[in-house]
Amino acid sequence: MSEAEIGLIGLGTMGSNLALNIAEKGHRIAVWNRTGARTKAFVKQAGPLADNIVACDTLEELMGAIRPPRPVIMMVPAGDAVDEQIAVLRPMAAQGDILIDAGNANFHDTERRTKDFENSGIAFVGMGVSGGEEGARHGPSIMVGAEKEAWQRIEKIVTDIAAKYEDEACAAWLGTGGAGHFVKTIHNGIEYADMQMIAEIYGILRDGLGLGAADIGAIFARWNEGRLNSYLIEITATVLAASDPDSGMPVVDVILDKAGQKGTGRWSVIEAAMLGVPATGIEAAVAARGLSALKKEREGAAKLYAPTAQPSSAASQADIVAELESALLAGKIAAYAQGFAVMQAASAEHGWNLPMATVARIWRAGCIIRSQFLGEIAQAFEGRAKIANLMVAPAFVDIMSAVHPALRITVGRAALQGLPTPALSASLAYFDGYRQARGTANLIQAQRDFFGAHGFEKIGTKGEKHGPWAGSVSGKKK
Ligand code: 6PG
Repeated sequence: MSEAEIGLIGLGTMGSNLALNIAEKGHRIAVWNRTGARTKAFVKQAGPLADNIVACDTLEELMGAIRPPRPVIMMVPAGDAVDEQIAVLRPMAAQGDILIDAGNANFHDTERRTKDFENSGIAFVGMGVSGGEEGARHGPSIMVGAEKEAWQRIEKIVTDIAAKYEDEACAAWLGTGGAGHFVKTIHNGIEYADMQMIAEIYGILRDGLGLGAADIGAIFARWNEGRLNSYLIEITATVLAASDPDSGMPVVDVILDKAGQKGTGRWSVIEAAMLGVPATGIEAAVAARGLSALKKEREGAAKLYAPTAQPSSAASQADIVAELESALLAGKIAAYAQGFAVMQAASAEHGWNLPMATVARIWRAGCIIRSQFLGEIAQAFEGRAKIANLMVAPAFVDIMSAVHPALRITVGRAALQGLPTPALSASLAYFDGYRQARGTANLIQAQRDFFGAHGFEKIGTKGEKHGPWAGSVSGKKK
């Protein structure tokens, strides 16, 4: 039996689909899973692709089945399981081998693990994979962080299995260490914001306009033909149209309104905060999941307050629906601008030199936030190492100018109706704050100086100044 080109550990949903994808692209793969029963089931599931799969009973067998130098993908739950797997695998690894963590790792862990392998002759690769089960099977978007040499050795397989956008592989080397996992984390932060804003618009259509799930689904399906065309809008239309086989009701109407989260959205907010980069739409989306989990408390509070009196509106349903479409696009531009700003700041902080246009290009297909919109973002970054913010890129200034009034009307109307739009509101405030030449931080500076003598810059002068605060600490110091 000929040797495998690559190995894979962990035949859960993502691992098994990725292994099938690799086998289908003509690369012989050795696989191992902690429980042998899963490996057997996987080989059965592989059908004719089993010819390209070497099923192994032990890790030793797996390592022996791969042609050296051996690339091995670990697809195990992020966190301790990765460290445990590495601890077992490391003594079996030889010079030149490449250990690839393809899970949703926290990039700090990836940086630490990369350091642990420094000068060991064994390469460690942090590989962000997006696209869920379907993407893993037929072509995910792949974000790689590694030493360039390690990337070059796995590039062929990785690009073969990645999604293709007009024949271009949605996989790229983005930098060293945790660069790939960092970009995947921000992808998920943007995913949270995108999903939350879609849910808020759904809420307005359901509770503001009183539409049923099927009708709302039809609106999203129509929007998917226009500027909002994207995977998330497409699946929103699909899930809204689905019926619950038990009750015959729309499935969304029988699903409990408590959202789960595995942590990547939260990490993106933590990283944004640590970098001092505002990412308010993403923050709002993470917080909204937290609020959704307080179901019991929300039910209690709902009884304590009278429902908001519904204001009368002269706008027709068709006008409101058109406004919602533009509002969603405006919110989306602000949220993506935040995600890209966080990546730019992290790139400078960690010396990654993240290729921003490439990041946008490899998100055009395969991943959860894939959309035509990302092609426009790629164009905005193309040929530029850095732009201050997506919202000042000429193409986006034109779009945003056309759609922010609708976001304003939507958020205003929702507030009057008592309908929560945390991410849309945060995106609007971010936009308004970002384009306000004279803000209000002058007052913050005065307050800081008053109570703590923190000093401020005086317009048109150089150096730190203090205010004439009579009796204050800084006043005395002046
Ligand atoms: C992807 C997804 C994927 C997964 C999220 C879900 O890009 O394929 O982002 O990674 O769906 O981890 O995250 P939550 O459970 O936090 O929503």
